[in-house]
Amino acid sequence: GQLDKVAKEAGLLYFGTAVDNPSLNNQNYLRIARDPAEFGSLTPANGQKWSNTQASQGRFTYGSGDAIANIARQTGQQLRCHTLVWYNQLPGWDTVSSVYNRDQMQQIITAHIQNVAGHYKGRCYAWDVVNEAMEDDGRYRNNPMYRAMGVDYITHSFKVAQQTDPAAKLYYNDFNIERCCNAKINATIAMIRTVKAAGAPVHGIGMQGHSRVGMSPSKREMKETMARFSELVDEVAFTEVDIRHTKLPIGAAEREQQGKDYMEVVGACLETPKCVGITVWDFTDQYSWIPQQYPGEGEACLWDRNYNKKPAYHSIVGLLQSA
Ligand code: G3I
Repeated sequence: GQLDKVAKEAGLLYFGTAVDNPSLNNQNYLRIARDPAEFGSLTPANGQKWSNTQASQGRFTYGSGDAIANIARQTGQQLRCHTLVWYNQLPGWDTVSSVYNRDQMQQIITAHIQNVAGHYKGRCYAWDVVNEAMEDDGRYRNNPMYRAMGVDYITHSFKVAQQTDPAAKLYYNDFNIERCCNAKINATIAMIRTVKAAGAPVHGIGMQGHSRVGMSPSKREMKETMARFSELVDEVAFTEVDIRHTKLPIGAAEREQQGKDYMEVVGACLETPKCVGITVWDFTDQYSWIPQQYPGEGEACLWDRNYNKKPAYHSIVGLLQSA
């Protein structure tokens, strides 16, 4: 394996992947996921989310997240931790926001972050503290936390995360904020300014980087966005990259195009001084989330479902080696 090796030689901190729990019994999968020369950083795809860590109120469970964190501990890989406050994959008890007033929601968020970030204290290079708080049209997402607390839920979450794990880099993470400069990007910048002015320690902005072959943002567009984000925070990163085909099956031309599209992402990071690394949202089509969410689409990853490296893999390695 060599993605992380050549990424580090090119000056990045890491090349990482998301790992989900169902794949952990597959030796073909594990051989690659556990190779620190391939992936210098792991992100639990689901294991640290609210539904896995606090399914019933006040009872915290860490088995799924720990299974991945423990791999990283054994191999020396870094952990990008994901995610503390998100509207999705919330357990039933917390989704009926109308029953919680501001003080109650603030206590719920405090307890959740103190427990979960406390459990992983010192082990996360970064935490995605708040995930997907903005809508594409630039409005705040009308989620349970927002309904109870307004934008203060974001400020509060970052403050508690810093008190709980002072060493972790604290990120805001979102999708559709790669291609400069749409309403969501402008609103994200305004939101980060607002919460920082209110005392939120936001260290990083994560651009998820989910996109589609032939329609994904250009390096120039992404660099422009990252330059704007770089004025606000210490670091930026691509946190969930996958580039899916919208029509299957595909041929050689589409495979080559996917490689070019991945190279735009990697190139944008290489040419942005504050970009620290790239994480793919799992590395094999066998476990990609795409077909479930977008039936008929997929083959978004760097390895196919039989663990063959695709042209995109080799394109990325070549680009990193020449950097
Ligand atoms: O845990 C249940 C299991 O008990 C049940 O049998 C099974 C049946 O479908 O569902 C399981 O839950 C699934 C869960 O993943 C765990 O595997 C959910 O249905 C499924 O919707 C969920 O999908 C996850 C998705 O977030 C939820 O929004 C994906 O695996 C995960 O990759 C994806 O990751 C998100 C990032 O966190 C944030 N950015 C977008 C990204 C892609 O959606």
